[in-house]
Amino acid sequence: PADRPAEGLHVVITAGPTREPLDPVRYLSNHSSGKMGYALATAAAALGARVTLISGPVALPTPAGVERLDVESAREMHDAAQRLAGDCDLFIGCAAVADYRAEAPAEHKLKKQEGEDTLTLRLVKNPDIIAAVAARPDRPFVVGFAAETRDLAAYAHDKLARKGLDMVVANDVSRVGLGFGADDNAALLLWREGDTTGQADLPPQPKAELAEAVIRRALECLTPPAGD
Ligand code: C5P
Repeated sequence: PADRPAEGLHVVITAGPTREPLDPVRYLSNHSSGKMGYALATAAAALGARVTLISGPVALPTPAGVERLDVESAREMHDAAQRLAGDCDLFIGCAAVADYRAEAPAEHKLKKQEGEDTLTLRLVKNPDIIAAVAARPDRPFVVGFAAETRDLAAYAHDKLARKGLDMVVANDVSRVGLGFGADDNAALLLWREGDTTGQADLPPQPKAELAEAVIRRALECLTPPAGD
């Protein structure tokens, strides 16, 4: 088939938020809708890839032809990512992973304490899922996301270097109608090109189109066109 540049490749994508339990009925989480990660999975499958979606809790249907692994906490997502990372060509970390979890989730439902107006929760850092994938000797091509409210390019360059990524999709989440929960998004794409950094500005567009542009660019980096 003509336009299936991802044929034969396995793409693994993390999407959505994570949930970090506080007790059996409560958790810490965030407002990630999972829309961008699901759009990436849809686009990669349409371009011919085998796609595994590691998904936090979201209210979205599984894209056709995509294998979906449901997880809740960052540690579950990390374990799933490590199981799959050695067996994929492209890894995209699109999940909004909780940076911290409760150090010791309560075994039973926490009760209001009589006469106490405050409650102190002790949090510990979660693993950096994408950095751990990028640190593997058998690493796939690794694409990360950066959501920033200022100094987009500077933070994106820093993320590329600090996490050892091959590409960063950076978006300005302070722009109204774009990003978190929205159907449209815009992004600055940065990728390693030998010793320099390639760059592309993707204007505001539906997440489906942006997702396809990101996948196509990653595929070009992964398998440069033959003949030059
Ligand atoms: O560090 P920060 O959260 O800004 O980085 C965002 C990128 O790192 C995203 O690609 C996100 O999926 C990934 N990430 C991760 N594990 C974490 C935190 C972020 O994979 N614990």
